[in-house]
Amino acid sequence: MSINRRMFLQGGAFLGAGLSLSGCTPIIKLTQSADYEYTLTLEAAPFELIPNTQTPGLGFNGQYPSPVLRGKQGRPITITVVNKLDQPTTIHWHGIRIDIAMDGVPFLSQMPIMPGQSFVYKFTPPDAGTFWYHPHVNSVEQLGKGLVGLLIVDEADSSEFSPNEFSADIPLMIKNWHLNDDGSFKPLSIPRYAARMGTPGNYETINGVNKPTIDVPANSWIRLRFANVDNTLVYTLRVKDHPAFLASIDANPLPEPKPFKQHAIGAGMRFDLIIKTPSVGESIVVENGKGRIFFEFLTLKSVATKSTTPTNAPMPRLPLNPLPEPDLDTAETLKFVFEWEGAITPADDQGKAKHKFWTINRRAWEGMSHNKIPAPLAKLTLGKTYIFDLKNNTPHHHPIHIHGVMFKVLKSTKKKIDPFFTDTVLMEKNERVKIAFVADNPGRWMYHCHVIEHMKTGLMGYIEIS
Ligand code: C2O
Ligand code: CU
Ligand code: CU
Repeated sequence: MSINRRMFLQGGAFLGAGLSLSGCTPIIKLTQSADYEYTLTLEAAPFELIPNTQTPGLGFNGQYPSPVLRGKQGRPITITVVNKLDQPTTIHWHGIRIDIAMDGVPFLSQMPIMPGQSFVYKFTPPDAGTFWYHPHVNSVEQLGKGLVGLLIVDEADSSEFSPNEFSADIPLMIKNWHLNDDGSFKPLSIPRYAARMGTPGNYETINGVNKPTIDVPANSWIRLRFANVDNTLVYTLRVKDHPAFLASIDANPLPEPKPFKQHAIGAGMRFDLIIKTPSVGESIVVENGKGRIFFEFLTLKSVATKSTTPTNAPMPRLPLNPLPEPDLDTAETLKFVFEWEGAITPADDQGKAKHKFWTINRRAWEGMSHNKIPAPLAKLTLGKTYIFDLKNNTPHHHPIHIHGVMFKVLKSTKKKIDPFFTDTVLMEKNERVKIAFVADNPGRWMYHCHVIEHMKTGLMGYIEIS
């Protein structure tokens, strides 16, 4: 077989997995373009989540699941965002080490995109992996009603690794909706829940479908990209009776893939698994734990395809991202305490009930506007390493996220940690965690809990790197 023919077949296998298998299964459509240029329109869009009902959602390009954007490490990507909503918005590229002007935070990095306006985001992702995008304005509603999508950055070309080593590459976007039986929305936020774990949804979907069965090519290596784009919930996933390997956490490949037992992801978090699929007709079940009990979450069914990678191929190995290694010897340590300070002030000046429940170092986020930007939680010197000592003084989980950098989780008071890079760390109740990173990206970077109601009721701030 000539090189050309082999390359053609491999390319075919890869595309085949993304496209032809999507017939009746909920694999999200990949929006692919050679020059990495996209248009995303935010608009009101009815979509079908509960079969035979319509949900009055908000959708990217009028659809849910949203288009999966695909970029390439080290190559510019351009996304024109058109706001057809009746409210302002911005889009944030979660996890991308980006220029501050493209970070998509209103007032801090750009002016909001007003209704009828558009904004062109252009950036060059330095890292490959599973990322996602979402508005950073009125997030309870905008994210809660469907404006969440995945951004997959393929690895730069190298002789070590090719995405074609996987016979399928499957994005799995997890979201739990607040729905009545007729498809209409229930309240997305209830104050007494916002003051605790957040208001949970009641209709769980993966790529927009409840408990889907997804066809995968038999007898070959596949890559599963789990992304928790929910506003609230933690998912603890495991694979039932079938070997799997944890390859990447929040877009960052592990130095060594780890045999997978189970893994918890809070709102905003991702992980990639590598699995060798069984023979045609056999299935793999992924389960989600609620407390100690695990429930069926998703089924992968092996099917015959024209070409799959040979069964005896070694497990593909993802190349590491080019992240700066924190210099712990010279690091400065800063402490951050996350607390609950229940206070329901009856109303704001517009007469709307206002709630502040959560604080970081005793400060609740006050919100910001064009001429009022609160002081940063900390000012960091460009180029220096910092250790953040994070203390969760509450009886709830908090997935704590920092924009603009990837940080290394060093240790925890609750579990043994093999240090790993991430953009969001899930803090258990009363857990204390140490993280470290090089402050190499100048800008004002949001630093918040990704439980959207927590960030909206105080658990948010920013750091300034200069
Ligand atoms: Cu997904 Cu401010 O974050
Ligand atoms: Cu982010
Ligand atoms: Cu939180």
